[in-house]
Order: sequence, then C-alpha cells, then structure tokens
Amino acid sequence: MKDNSITRRKFLKTSGVVISSVVLAGSGLTLLDDHEPVDPFPIYSIGDQNMSKRILVTYASRTGSTAGVAEVIGQTLSNPETRVDIFPITEVKDLSPYNAVVAGSAIQGGEWLPEALDFVREHRSEFSRIPFAAFTVCMTLAMKKGDYGDQVKTWLNPVRTLVKPAREGFFAGSLDIAKIPSFADRMKFRLSVMAGVWSEGDHRDWHAIRTWAEDLNSVL
Ligand SMILES: Cc1cc2nc3c(=O)[nH]c(=O)nc-3n(C[C@H](O)[C@H](O)[C@H](O)COP(=O)(O)O)c2cc1C
Repeated sequence: MKDNSITRRKFLKTSGVVISSVVLAGSGLTLLDDHEPVDPFPIYSIGDQNMSKRILVTYASRTGSTAGVAEVIGQTLSNPETRVDIFPITEVKDLSPYNAVVAGSAIQGGEWLPEALDFVREHRSEFSRIPFAAFTVCMTLAMKKGDYGDQVKTWLNPVRTLVKPAREGFFAGSLDIAKIPSFADRMKFRLSVMAGVWSEGDHRDWHAIRTWAEDLNSVL
C-alpha cells in the first residue's frame, strides 16, 4: 500500500513556504494599501460684510488640488472693495448675496464631478443676473506626451449647454495616489505612472492660475 504520510521535514518545509507567501503577499498589499486621509477643504471668506462687492469662488474636489486652485483664485480676486467667499460647492445654497460666481471642478472620467454639474444646473437661471466663470482641473494637461488641450476643453460642454461662462480656465492638477479613496483607482493610477503617462506630484501652474484670475476682474 502506498504511504501517503508526509515526513515532519516535508511538513515544516511546505508550511514554511505557505506562511512566507502569506506574509509577503500581506506586506505587499499593505504597501499598496497606503490610503491617506485628505486634508480638510477650505471654507472661509476674505473681507467683511460692508464691502460693496461679493464674489463666490466655489469648487468640487476629491483630493484637494481643485480646492487649492479655488483658494488662489479667491485670494487673487480679493481687494478692498470685494469680499470673496471660498466655499465647497456642496455648501452653497443661495446665490442672492453675490455679484459674481466662479465655479470649478476636478475631472474624473472626462467629466466635471457630479455635484459641480448639479450646482450649475440648479442655479443656471441666476447666471443671467450675475456673471459666471468656470475652471477645470485635470491630469491630462500634465501629461508627458501629446497636446490634449482641445480634448480637455470639450469636457466643459455639459456646463456650456446650461450656461455660457464669461471665462473658462483649464489647469493641470496634481496626482497624490495615496489620497485616492478607491483601491482599484489607486492601482490604475500606479500603473499609469509606471507606464510613463504622467508623474505623481503637484503640476499646478500657480502663475497661470493667478494670471487667469487677474483677468477675471474685467468680466466679473
Ligand atoms: C478616479 C479618478 C479619475 C480621474 N479621471 C481623470 C480623467 O478622466 N482625465 C484627467 O485628465 N484627469 C483625471 N483624473 C485626475 C484628476 O482630475 C486630477 O488628479 C485632479 O487634480 C484632482 O483634483 P482634486 O484633487 O481636486 O480631486 C482622475 C482622478 C481620479 C482620482
């Protein structure tokens, strides 16, 4: 009869391999699963209630880079006569106090974030009373090869069908993979970085963002 029993030595060797594989796989996943919390988003005003003009700069962001762009636009627009509110788009309910609105969104899957488009849809009739400017933040504008500027501009079409912005800004964003909440999306972005599509880090061009914001003064 065939002896199916295994020797103690064989058993220890096999279980050693199994345990090492589990530990290695586990530590690999821990390395990949490096999700970090996103810093709180800015929500504040520059100036006071007595100022003659009030501008809203509002934004939809997931990992914070669009929020940072909104902050710099707001700071650039502030002056002794103008109060600027820098608010996340989901916090804004009433546009009646404002003389102008600047709204921006991060791009995901070639689209503005849903809450940003909802905001424009909800308030579209008010943009016949006050000027509206829109800005878009994405990684395609930070790609290492190719010029996709024209394609990126088409991503604003759903907004344009609701309201025609007085000005449109398109800016490169930043890629901080650890802050992306979905594990699958983190993997996708890691692979795209490895493939050389773009590099991780902050690609925001603060000079271009400030220049765009300074130019808004002529239309808002
Ligand atoms: C799930 C996901 C999908 C994205 N899809 C696109 C895309 O289709 N095109 C693009 O140019 N950038 C895309 N990006 C990059 C973001 O637009 C870019 O990192 C932006 O700076 C993020 O803004 P936020 O930090 O305000 O969320 C995507 C990012 C994530 C996390």
